[in-house]
Amino acid sequence: MLGNFSYKNATKLYFGDDSLQFLNEELPKYGKNIQLIYGGGSIKKNGLYDEIVKILKDNGKTIVEDGGVMPNPTIEKLREGIRIARENNVDLLLAVGGGSCCDYAKAVSVSIHCDEDPWDKYYIRFEEPTCEIVPVGCVLTMAGTGSEMNAGSVITNHEQKLKVGHVFGEEVMPKFSILNPKYTFSLPKRQMVAGIYDIFNHICEQYFSGEDDNTSDYLSEALMKSVVHSSLIAIENPEDYEARSNIMWTATWALNTLIAKGKTTDWMVHMLGQAAGAYTDATHGMTLSAVSLPYYRYIMPYGLKKFVRFAEEVWNVSPSGKTDEQIAEEGLQEMEKWMRRIGVAMSLSELGATEDMIDGIADATFILEGGYKVLTKDEVKQILKESL
Ligand code: NZQ
Ligand code: ZN
Repeated sequence: MLGNFSYKNATKLYFGDDSLQFLNEELPKYGKNIQLIYGGGSIKKNGLYDEIVKILKDNGKTIVEDGGVMPNPTIEKLREGIRIARENNVDLLLAVGGGSCCDYAKAVSVSIHCDEDPWDKYYIRFEEPTCEIVPVGCVLTMAGTGSEMNAGSVITNHEQKLKVGHVFGEEVMPKFSILNPKYTFSLPKRQMVAGIYDIFNHICEQYFSGEDDNTSDYLSEALMKSVVHSSLIAIENPEDYEARSNIMWTATWALNTLIAKGKTTDWMVHMLGQAAGAYTDATHGMTLSAVSLPYYRYIMPYGLKKFVRFAEEVWNVSPSGKTDEQIAEEGLQEMEKWMRRIGVAMSLSELGATEDMIDGIADATFILEGGYKVLTKDEVKQILKESL
């Protein structure tokens, strides 16, 4: 039975290879001062920075520079962004980049007019914003997180060895997002496949829970099949526009709240991956791939029916003459083959994690209760050890 829910998606999307022009339609809705948020320089290399600066100038805007947002944005960078925004009285935060820029923009947006420390308020106490929120717009250059159409924002605190995500309310979602699949062509292969695995795992996190007949699970299966299919095309030809478009669009639908409606969700792979990320600063999607197989093999007996369905529907495993356990295991074997083929990390040690970090990573892992098995701390440690 579907649980009760409300649904609204507050982000306006512009999708396609001419979508940047719609920035001209959005900009007049906001004041003069635009904080231009970007990462380590990829947008300067591929020319997008110049195109955006021209559009901003043509629209009479004042550009407030805020570059250098790192992958896995830190609390120190967030504090800098808040200072820049306050000093320049900004009217719109325009994030140009991947999930890191977009997440960071949201964290700045809820902190500019708020006196309290954002780390304590949003990432330790998980409070909602009580101050005015500055609007965010996004021009996406990497497909993966879904940040372009959700209210999530993940910040890392290296001093406390914590990487924490806060899912805010719809008022924090980007007001608009521009998605041009061509912008993703310049991504290094490692980032492309990390993003692809992130998409796939977002769907798994919402799929592997509950036993009901739920429309969301049928949608999830279709999205998983699409991303697997397109990923195999994109690794052969990264400039295949159709495959990159499908990947980009799937990323958005994988985490814009739709497929979670009416059900509980798991999210333990993300909890394990984020904790490992706080210790290693590794690429987000790779932290997920490194822990996934040990985790799913461990919880499989507790959600056997769903793992059988996953094997048959997503991986075309034939059930004839096999036990449920065999079918489910074959599904995970097919998933593993696909992961190896696209080239994601298969262990935490590849990402720089070592045995002596396991206790710390386990302590930094939030244990959630929506999946098939609520883990104990010892089980978390065991799964992390198997992931090394
Ligand atoms: O910084 P630049 O130079 O732009 O390079 C970036 C960065 O090094 C590069 N890149 C992005 N687009 C490019 C490009 N390089 C060449 N051409 C392009 N078109 O890719 C690198 C990674 O970028 P990043 O934004 O860090 O990647 P991603 O989109 O995977 O975002 C990761 C962050 O999002 C969080 C993660 O935890 C991590 O902090 N997440 C946010 C979520 C959400 N809002 O709901 C959910 C996710 O599960 C995730 O936790
Ligand atoms: Zn993710």
